[in-house]
Amino acid sequence: MADDKVDSLLKEGRVYRPSQETVASTYIQDYETAYRESIQNPEAFWGQAAKELDWFTPWNKVLEWNYPWAKWFVGGTCNMAYNCLDRHVKTWRRHKVAVIWVGEKGEERIFTYAELYRQVCRCANALKSLGLRKGDRVTIYLPKIPEQMVAMLACARLGLIHSVVYSGFSAPALESRIQDAESRLVITADVGYDRGKAIHLKPVVDQAVAHCRTVEHVVVVRREQPGVTLSAPKEIDWEDWLRDQPVACEAEPLDSETPLYILYTSGTTGKPKGVVHVHGGYMVGTYLTTKYVFNLKEDDLYFCVADPGWVTGHSYIVYGPLLNGATILTAEGKPDYPNPGRWWDIIAKYGVTVFYTTPTAIRLLMRYGEDWPKKYDLTSLRVLGSVGEPINPEAWEWFHRVTGGKKPIMDTWWQTETGMILVTPLPSVPLKPGSATRPFLGVEADVVDREGKSLPANAGGFAVVKKPWPAMMRTIYKDPDRYQVYWNTIPNCYTAGDVCRKDKDGYFWFMGRADDVIKVAGNRIGTAEVESALVSHPAVAEAAVIGKPHPTVGESIKAFVILKQGHQESPELIQSLKNHVLTELGKIGVPAEIDIVPSLPKTRSGKIMRRVLKAKELGQDAGDISTLED
Ligand code: WT7
Repeated sequence: MADDKVDSLLKEGRVYRPSQETVASTYIQDYETAYRESIQNPEAFWGQAAKELDWFTPWNKVLEWNYPWAKWFVGGTCNMAYNCLDRHVKTWRRHKVAVIWVGEKGEERIFTYAELYRQVCRCANALKSLGLRKGDRVTIYLPKIPEQMVAMLACARLGLIHSVVYSGFSAPALESRIQDAESRLVITADVGYDRGKAIHLKPVVDQAVAHCRTVEHVVVVRREQPGVTLSAPKEIDWEDWLRDQPVACEAEPLDSETPLYILYTSGTTGKPKGVVHVHGGYMVGTYLTTKYVFNLKEDDLYFCVADPGWVTGHSYIVYGPLLNGATILTAEGKPDYPNPGRWWDIIAKYGVTVFYTTPTAIRLLMRYGEDWPKKYDLTSLRVLGSVGEPINPEAWEWFHRVTGGKKPIMDTWWQTETGMILVTPLPSVPLKPGSATRPFLGVEADVVDREGKSLPANAGGFAVVKKPWPAMMRTIYKDPDRYQVYWNTIPNCYTAGDVCRKDKDGYFWFMGRADDVIKVAGNRIGTAEVESALVSHPAVAEAAVIGKPHPTVGESIKAFVILKQGHQESPELIQSLKNHVLTELGKIGVPAEIDIVPSLPKTRSGKIMRRVLKAKELGQDAGDISTLED
């Protein structure tokens, strides 16, 4: 066995036990017992959790399970925004800081719960003034500024369905998401900032909505001076829109199963899936996971680096922490701009206690060395978190060491579709670097074979969940068949699409995706999406895309392209292909490498065998190639 492999196995064997003091301070001190009890009667467990939140009318049944369709808290009425705001504003927490926002240029905006409540109410009244009604869709295409969460919560307050689109997506990608959701309104900004550069969003929206018949208005947050010109009455300035609105607006009592949002994510085909989450169950799931995983207490300062354009931002910047009445810190910009001390500086300056980040960011900061974190006082930190892709033991150890060597790292495994964290440590649980540890309370996760049979220790298989959980997606928007695939691939299980093994202690070790989805810097992208962008270039006949292991971003995109007759390989052509993907899809889809090839490996039925390309690229055995055409 190679030396590095032995090293990494030895490292995998390391166990970090929490101090007695840590255990004593946690809500769940004995995970094993709590877990056993929770899955003996998951409905009782989740019903109990739901009682910690406010309901306008109580449910009469916790779960109605009509495989694979779930309804949670049946008959109950509630409102996500009411629980995020009104529940706190009614108490002393109205004076508590809800959100600290730090801009890329170092600006700071602070909202107490009362101020956030007023802004959300104003925005909700403004939405009403445009005639928007319960069930209508609103697309939010904003950079990481507070208006993003204000708009989300205002939609929730009225029962409008928000569809947040990450501001790095290009016009065609934005357009297809607006078209699919049939949004009546788009909320955007003039610019976002990226490493000091203004990224102009308004022209992207102009291009995207040009063909969207359903869009009646575009609201624009203007950050730059002089402000971009807007063409009335369709285009409205955010400030004008809110200015004269009353600061009170009743939260709509909504049936538990009322959709809260649609969030588009990548699958195995070129068309993104509109994952639908609802008010009731999603509220209970994000509330409880935020509380227990980070052991959130009244005096915590919670810093999550995600962008609300992704699900982590929805569940663990906006909804979960606000449901808990926490103080949230959110910062625009990159971890190494203006320098690699950016996040450590924020942690020290504000006294952050919970810091939730990603393996890609940790590996990036690792490259700049330990001197950067050493310059700052990080003693306020109490609990750390990681999400989005597997964290390798080296990055785990580094993160652990530079933050003081004693803070537990919560490696949280979940998905856009699952809505909430499913496999994760709790601060009281012994940790093994590189393992996401054990299922969350009330969640029956397992590793199984294709038939759904549980596998013995250390056998690689598929990560599944065997019972419904409250924050699970309810459907794929306008595509119920695609929803059913998740529950019909492996009998009686929800199939996540991840390969995994469980060790002898029942610890989960996630190993990556089993399908044609790749994770670049934790961002999810389908090989088919990149391929269809490539083949829409006039010089391309065919394209195949694979994910290739990368030391910093986890996986990088490599494309193999067959050119149409009459086109020659050249550096200019390669650049033009990359630019084309940038315009079609956005930055996250651009291949790091493009090889021009004369042919692609295919099955006899004409399907491209990406597995063969990948094996060849990595110098590995391609396995069974009996179906290969030639
Ligand atoms: C996929 C879901 C989870 C919210 C952000 C991403 C991978 C996520 C982990 C982890 C190993 C992880 C999986 C999963 N993933 N967290 N802690 N360890 N893998 O949500 O974009 O829907 O992606 O991210 O492959 O299926 P997403």
